[in-house]
Amino acid sequence: MKLSGCSAVVTGGASGLGEATARALAAEGVKVAIFDMNAEKGEAVAASIGGVFCNVNVTSDESVDAGFAKARAAIGQERILINCAGTGNAAKTAGRSRETGEIKHFPLDAFNMIIQINLVGTFRCVAKSAAGMLTLEPLEDGERGAIVNTASVAAEDGQMGQAAYSASKGGVVGMTLPIARDLMSEGIRVNTILPGIFNTPLMNNAPQNVKDALAASVPFPKRLGNPSEYASLAVEMCRNSYFNGEDVRIDGAIRMSPR
Ligand SMILES: NC(=O)c1ccc[n+]([C@@H]2O[C@H](COP(=O)([O-])OP(=O)(O)OC[C@H]3O[C@@H](n4cnc5c(N)ncnc54)[C@H](O)[C@@H]3O)[C@@H](O)[C@H]2O)c1
Repeated sequence: MKLSGCSAVVTGGASGLGEATARALAAEGVKVAIFDMNAEKGEAVAASIGGVFCNVNVTSDESVDAGFAKARAAIGQERILINCAGTGNAAKTAGRSRETGEIKHFPLDAFNMIIQINLVGTFRCVAKSAAGMLTLEPLEDGERGAIVNTASVAAEDGQMGQAAYSASKGGVVGMTLPIARDLMSEGIRVNTILPGIFNTPLMNNAPQNVKDALAASVPFPKRLGNPSEYASLAVEMCRNSYFNGEDVRIDGAIRMSPR
């Protein structure tokens, strides 16, 4: 797919992997709308790439609808959707407090919140974006658009405490192929990236010794991934018209240990 001149929506585009992808798309001549809850960072990124910022919470139907309306009015109907909005939490399914011996289980509202953001939020944006893409004239090969979702290696090798996060990301992996099949007759491709450990603001907050240990645990290269390396794969998934229905790890060959 020829990228130059297309429009794109990048959720979670104010930071980390989404920001890097928004910048990489803009460098290819794509007009970019950033959907994020962080208005300060989102406005700054949008301004620096000549894009538009939309203050969107992906868990809200109304907010996402308003975001697409604003983005499409500013830069036209998007042919590209990149879903990077997401977050995680950690709690054991059930266990004992080390200090008091008290038995606790994973709080269900915290479990549900992660599913709502990472899984339902991703599907909400996919469904609403695809519905908009149906109004576009097809390009050569009958192609109308391309969608990239972000899962995690935790979809396959989730660690202790990651039941909610892994369930949400496993859901994103599981829906890749059926969505690609749903949209095949309309010429819309769907792929999902499973990042390993990337050097984003999420990770910057970790102490240096934790970051060093994580880097040492990667087979090769022995470092965290750069957001630009994620962005490069996301852009290729949009550009390469034969990329469809795939879930691809980008992780330096890491396989996460139980803890
Ligand atoms: N960094 C990693 O190592 C890593 C590894 C595997 C998967 N991932 C996934 O990649 C995606 C991006 O992560 P990142 O490391 O760039 O994180 P990040 O925190 O740097 O960026 C995430 C962005 O999503 C936004 N966001 C969060 N909840 C939102 C909501 N409800 N509505 C709209 N925006 C929302 C945040 O404001 C933030 O700007 C996430 O889905 C994360 O689970 C990251």
